[in-house]
Amino acid sequence: MRILHILGTRPNFVKMAPLIAAVSRRSPETDQLIVHTGQHYDRMMSEIFFDQLGVPAPDFMLEVGSGSHAQQTARVMERLEPLLVDNRPDLVVVPGDVNSTVAAALTAVKLGIPVAHLEAGLRSHDRTMPEEINRIITDQIADTLWVHSEEALRNLELEGIPKERASFVGNTMIDSLVALQERFRPLESCRQFSLEPGSYLLVTLHRPALVDGPLLFEAIAALNEVSTLMPVLFPVHPRTRARLAGNAELADNLHLVDPAGYLEFLSLEADAGAVLTDSGGIQEETTYLGIPCFTLRDNTERPVTIELGTNVLLGLDPARISEIPEIIAGQEKASGPVQDTAPEPPPLWDGHAADRIADQLAS
Ligand code: UD1
Ligand code: UDP
Repeated sequence: MRILHILGTRPNFVKMAPLIAAVSRRSPETDQLIVHTGQHYDRMMSEIFFDQLGVPAPDFMLEVGSGSHAQQTARVMERLEPLLVDNRPDLVVVPGDVNSTVAAALTAVKLGIPVAHLEAGLRSHDRTMPEEINRIITDQIADTLWVHSEEALRNLELEGIPKERASFVGNTMIDSLVALQERFRPLESCRQFSLEPGSYLLVTLHRPALVDGPLLFEAIAALNEVSTLMPVLFPVHPRTRARLAGNAELADNLHLVDPAGYLEFLSLEADAGAVLTDSGGIQEETTYLGIPCFTLRDNTERPVTIELGTNVLLGLDPARISEIPEIIAGQEKASGPVQDTAPEPPPLWDGHAADRIADQLAS
């Protein structure tokens, strides 16, 4: 069997690393080919994840780079098609919801090559998000749908997708976190920024709805205010860095830094007093770690993080950022220091999702 894996962006590397490793362990005879689309290309957005997660070097680099949605999607399709024709894989695996995902899925199905979608069935029900369009299309055309939470099964059913295509395997992003616990827990990366564990607000913001307009500057103003009560550490995504363009005024306790390596970022999350984000993956990781998470969006495609975890939807409203210190103080008063009170993770977020997929592929 020959499997071709599509990797393009930072969260893709984290989701796919355990699967590639599990297939190698379970079925060493399987020929696995790795395609890096090049949607993300800075060292801190790409190469460092291969190094830290032990992902083998890509067999093919498409080098599509940045561009409009149509440009990025079209470049992946054009450059992937000849490669699929030449290598004729038995299965193409696409993760998550980025442009590389939908582009690769479309290219493969039109060549009659079966597609498996990792992290299928998530829905924000917000079609202004490019990711929602990517998810809907990918799930409709993929042959195999690997799902990480029960609500995703219901979403697929509501869209008329036959039940037998989907299986509830668990969360491979959490597999990566679990596999690296012994490496990131002792790091205390916050000390590099002269911060004490438990004391600071960790921030990531990169969604177009927030960072491509004036809301970003409102968020910075609110973070300046919060930083007088608790220090704020903000590893800035390159999209956000480009939008800020050096135009924001920053208080002394608001630290804007480069994107962190994966191990360092997990350490910063685990030691944070709280996290403010609009990331999908970070809502999941904070749920697993039991760290209070505030999501600066009107919706989430990951409601399980709200039902079972520590995630609070603030809405797409930067003014609400200033409420965070008070909410955390209230939570700590009610249940003690956050690091001591990690709740049960959602079902099958147990570090073994990729093994379940590898077993399924083997049989
Ligand atoms: C993409 C995904 C988003 C995902 C995010 C993860 C789509 C539609 N969006 O958003 O779902 O949550 O990745 O991080 O696929 N840039 C660099 N260096 C890089 C990569 C990007 O400078 O290595 C800058 C460029 O200015 C680029 C911008 O970031 O134009 C946006 O990159 P792009 O990949 O188009 O979208 P993301 O915002 O990263
Ligand atoms: N991450 C990282 N360094 C950072 C920010 C995030 O390693 O500076 C990791 C994070 O731990 C998670 C993933 O990147 O595993 C989330 O990616 P991102 O927020 O870019 O994408 P999304 O999940 O929103 O699609």
